[in-house]
Amino acid sequence: MSSQASKDHPDGQKPPLLVDDHTVATIRDSKIFILLRGLPGSGKTTLAREIEQKYKDTSRLISADQYEIKPAVRSSSGGDYSKLDDELTTCFEKREARVVILDDTHHDRERLDKLFDMANTYHFAVVVLEPKTPWRLDCAQLKDRNHWKLSLEELKNLRPTLEKELLPLYFGWFLAKRDEDFLRKTSHDFLEQLGNLKAFKKRLPAFGYEDKQKLDLLKHFAKSPNILHCTTKFCDYGKVLGSEEYAQQEAVKKAYSKGYTLHITALCVTPKTVGAQVELTVDQLLTWPLDAEKEVMPRDNLPRGSRAHITLGTAAEVQDVQTGIDLLEFVKLQQSGRDGENVGELTGLVTGKVNYYENGMWMLNLSRKIEVKSIFSGYYGKPGVSVPLRGSKKGILNQCQIM
Ligand code: A2P
Repeated sequence: MSSQASKDHPDGQKPPLLVDDHTVATIRDSKIFILLRGLPGSGKTTLAREIEQKYKDTSRLISADQYEIKPAVRSSSGGDYSKLDDELTTCFEKREARVVILDDTHHDRERLDKLFDMANTYHFAVVVLEPKTPWRLDCAQLKDRNHWKLSLEELKNLRPTLEKELLPLYFGWFLAKRDEDFLRKTSHDFLEQLGNLKAFKKRLPAFGYEDKQKLDLLKHFAKSPNILHCTTKFCDYGKVLGSEEYAQQEAVKKAYSKGYTLHITALCVTPKTVGAQVELTVDQLLTWPLDAEKEVMPRDNLPRGSRAHITLGTAAEVQDVQTGIDLLEFVKLQQSGRDGENVGELTGLVTGKVNYYENGMWMLNLSRKIEVKSIFSGYYGKPGVSVPLRGSKKGILNQCQIM
């Protein structure tokens, strides 16, 4: 990096994926699509190149400038994206680059939606980065800095679309690919073992099955999130009250694009959902919304962070958000001193005691916590994108740590 570039991006303002070792290691185990966003001349290209260099053995930088796509208020009039998109698709498909960086203004919602769809198709988590240069929204300065020679007028027209923060459907921790594969495999193993337990077979009516019927839990939980994650704040792209304030919090800004290790303490099954209980650290609680538990259980006083979970699968017609609600039902029973009946032990990929609560509620208390690496970011794509739980079995074993 040139000394001018270092001055433009002092270390304190650099995103964690450039300066934090744990984050760098996590990104290396992930599939990440990094979108640089901002006005022409705001410093995107410098940042993009720095990221490319940091991950040079596994990154690929694509720039709209290479394709001579001129920034315009509507991307459709700004140039033809078909060649760029071909290159992007090749990049996603080839699997050589696990860190794909796209340098463009990214001011147009339609264009962004297309990119988020592509990221979903190829199971890439998304990180949106904006340069922190002091002149990033100063059109008078940008006029002299942008190589497209955009006029003051043109820059002023573009500015409103870029000065507002892009809010996701939800913020959360997105599992690194390797650890995600491991957790999916673990949950399959758990569901197979649980389904074969005598104690489970005796309690099928709660799942809507007759006593002697065969229930395949892998089939019952028909779908699973496209990328496993632990949601912190559901924003609905800014429509949810308090989401803008959440995104503006210093802790959330600092956490964005940073790597975190999540600790899984239990796996929970109800007739509607299967999920992993996450025990948040003090640091992780900084990004946990104050009302997360009250939002769904307004009359209860549940411990802060007790809703933290990773949805692993849901039955047909059940929404992912149900997993957190189901988890809080377990927590409520535990708080009232009802810890469930111990019905046996599982050994396999995971070991631990299986407890039966009531109404088809099962919990595997892990004898050793599972640690999974994750990146704190947002999900910006369409709602309801999932994969079949049964079809997502392929994976890498023994590559994430069991404590
Ligand atoms: P979870 O974190 O329990 O998996 P969907 O695609 O179904 O619309 O939801 C997207 C994600 O946002 C899901 O992962 C889901 O839950 C979470 N989510 C959906 N609705 C809410 C809500 N009202 N409050 C909190 N999280 C939500």
